[in-house]
Amino acid sequence: MKGIILAGGTATRLFPLTATTSKQLLPVYNRQMIFYPLNLLIKAGIKDILIIVAPEHSGQFLNLLGSIFDKFDVHLEFKVQKIPRGLADAFILGRDFIDEGNVTMVLGDNIFEDDLSDKIKNFQAGGMVFAKQVPDPKRFGVVEFDENNQVISIEEKPAEPKSDWAVVGVYTYDKNVIEIAKNLQPSERGEIEITDINKEYLKRGQLQVGKLEGAWLDAGTYDSLLEAGNVVKERKIYENFDPMINEAIEIFNEELKAIAKKRLK
Ligand code: DAU
Repeated sequence: MKGIILAGGTATRLFPLTATTSKQLLPVYNRQMIFYPLNLLIKAGIKDILIIVAPEHSGQFLNLLGSIFDKFDVHLEFKVQKIPRGLADAFILGRDFIDEGNVTMVLGDNIFEDDLSDKIKNFQAGGMVFAKQVPDPKRFGVVEFDENNQVISIEEKPAEPKSDWAVVGVYTYDKNVIEIAKNLQPSERGEIEITDINKEYLKRGQLQVGKLEGAWLDAGTYDSLLEAGNVVKERKIYENFDPMINEAIEIFNEELKAIAKKRLK
């Protein structure tokens, strides 16, 4: 299983905060946002991770993550997405990286309380996504279940949602996702939609949808960014970090301190 973090986009809803840095590098309590999706993948045993970034922030991602796992068994690659063509573009940009395996893609601004490691480790084939009940489903991909918990439909940002179950930003697929993504047509908003990938797996009878129990945060607005920080603090989500990530960050911090000390002399 390979991992992708989609951390590009323009983040206009967070202007002017994102005029100077990438949304996914903004702080969520005591960590840059990107560490949360990174943690999800690493906890699931994924060691090959592709981080897709916007051109204007690529240097900042490299400064933070370029050598942070040098002493550990985790391999990071970076790819620039020149134009934010849509979430499904991750599988086109990442096609050589994915190669013949399965892949889990996490959105760089999504934070999960649930530990999805076992579900990701046990994934075999097809597609697997997760849903969470939300008060404002119109903002998301929406999944409709029947009384036996079978999925009936999935729609992207419907004007009249058929349920309040939002599809969250972690997606596990087999290698067929590359072909499916390549054949997509842009939606009305001009993006190639991950919802269309999910619809294709649903049509093939190969889509599983799990239900989340813990908190899910999508830190794309001032309010949700603030809420994410508060929830991470109150529910101690920061304690869920893999010890290896904490150690890597600790080493990185010590290096920064040593460089700062040298400069002061
Ligand atoms: O958060 C979950 C929702 O994410 C799903 O319920 C929706 O089905 C899915 O379409 C997506 O909705 P949004 O329209 O809110 O996604 P957004 O444009 O905010 O992009 C999500 C993240 O991906 C964000 O961190 C920016 C990044 N991104 C986005 C696009 C369109 C990229 O890196 N490249 C892109 O081309």
